[in-house]
Amino acid sequence: MENFDSEYWKLINDFEDYIKFGQLSGRKIPEAVLRKVAVKKADTLDNIAAEVCGCRKCRLCQGRHKAVPGMGVMHPDVMVIGEGPGGDEDVQGLPFVGAAGKYLDKWLAAIQLDRNQNCFIGNVVKCRPPGNRDPQPDEITFCLPYLKRQIAILKPKMILTVGRISGGIISGQEPVMGRLRGHIFYFDGIPVIPTYHPSAVLRNPSLRQAVWDDLRFLRSELDRIKNGC
Ligand code: URA
Ligand code: SF4
Repeated sequence: MENFDSEYWKLINDFEDYIKFGQLSGRKIPEAVLRKVAVKKADTLDNIAAEVCGCRKCRLCQGRHKAVPGMGVMHPDVMVIGEGPGGDEDVQGLPFVGAAGKYLDKWLAAIQLDRNQNCFIGNVVKCRPPGNRDPQPDEITFCLPYLKRQIAILKPKMILTVGRISGGIISGQEPVMGRLRGHIFYFDGIPVIPTYHPSAVLRNPSLRQAVWDDLRFLRSELDRIKNGC
């Protein structure tokens, strides 16, 4: 016990010296102490964006012009999660800036949401799949940690997934839109509402009513959360 106590106090003193002087008075800092005081730097959206822009973890890095880390505000009311960048996004390095993105902005505006005011927009994979094909399972596996880190930092009040790929990944369910829609799921305690992808609705306008129902559902859940009930 005595031995333990003296070891303990020695460690505390070494730690204090290190904090005060950046080194142990005249002595070389033992590795064990350095390991104990190595404080992990906080993760940030900027860190993640820098890592994404230099990432070569999967084959999608080969065809990209720009990676697309995501954009929006910190602690958003809603984080929108799409599938992966398309052609326009790949050129600009920004999410949902093509035709589907303009349409998505209208959906958001209809329920008082805006990517520059109260939303963050991201994707499951950060580099464009060639010819806009679906991202493959291994590409998703490599890229998903970035999205999870973004969610952990952003702490959105709610998540809106657009399309079956992000709906399936974030809800943990089979990626079948008919089964995802109309339900609320949870990702790390954050409520998730899935809807169709704006590109699908542009191709098939008969889906518009369903999307409107989902958006109204999202808005009412968000209001409930914001009002604390
Ligand atoms: N489609 C997506 O899923 N994400 C984008 O960023 C653009 C189009
Ligand atoms: Fe890296 Fe994701 Fe781009 Fe693949 S898609 S290279 S994992 S950032």
